[in-house]
Amino acid sequence: MALEERPVGKLDRAVIFLGPPGSGKGTQAKELAKKYGVPHLSTGDMLREHIALGTPLGLKVKPIMERGELVPDSLVLRMVAERIERPDCSNGFVFDGFPRTVTQAKYLGEMLKRQGFKQPFVIHMIIGTDVLMKRMTGRRVCKLCGEIYNIYDRPPKVEGICDNDGGELIHRPDDREEVVGPRLHAYEKQTAPLVTYYRRLGYLHDVDARKSVEEVKQDIQQLVSSMRGMR
Ligand code: AP5
Repeated sequence: MALEERPVGKLDRAVIFLGPPGSGKGTQAKELAKKYGVPHLSTGDMLREHIALGTPLGLKVKPIMERGELVPDSLVLRMVAERIERPDCSNGFVFDGFPRTVTQAKYLGEMLKRQGFKQPFVIHMIIGTDVLMKRMTGRRVCKLCGEIYNIYDRPPKVEGICDNDGGELIHRPDDREEVVGPRLHAYEKQTAPLVTYYRRLGYLHDVDARKSVEEVKQDIQQLVSSMRGMR
């Protein structure tokens, strides 16, 4: 492994990315997880995998996700609880797209306490809705490795092909213009209250998500490295 690819140290907790669809949670969560050598847990990716495999959970959630609505808490919580009990999560993990409701956040708080983790570190991606439509309709994702591109701002070297592994780049069905509106609405109504919830607990750290991918990455890495020594 090259020196710059080696994990920099323990995370010892959950880092949570909180922000509207298209704000860059997945792009940045992957980078942070790689830096600390911990799992990147995207509930959206997990659910899409269930859909691709045609599992009973996948069959249940497919129409819900296609409408741009949130999947019921009970289904998501069971899936997450199973995942974070695995041994690869013992040094911490990075959540992307979870929790998304106050019920999920409370349940997560209990789970983390039970498993002896420190308080979570929440990164709040701040961005206006004006930019989000372009980010989502322009997004393309590698079918094999999940690398995230954007046809406007972050294009692959060859159109439709992943730079990493030659995989096919796909356009997510919920990135169609008519589904973006309901997704933003679900965020405002069900997820945005978590900003107040986590701010009151003192866990929230604001990041300006309008900046370039590299600038946002620097800001996040600075914030996270400053959390050492926190309880
Ligand atoms: P999920 O997959 O979590 O989607 P999301 O939260 O809607 O977020 P996105 O993946 O759309 O965006 P992102 O913020 O990760 O942005 P990205 O980095 O890709 O959820 C999908 C669905 O699953 C939900 O609607 C729901 O139905 C269900 N679900 C999932 N979790 C759930 C839960 N906990 N409870 C209930 N239901 C749940 O970036 C977007 C684009 O912008 C990319 O093209 C990227 O290249 C580009 N970009 C990123 N950063 C920048 C930058 N700084 N400058 C310019 N371009 C950038």
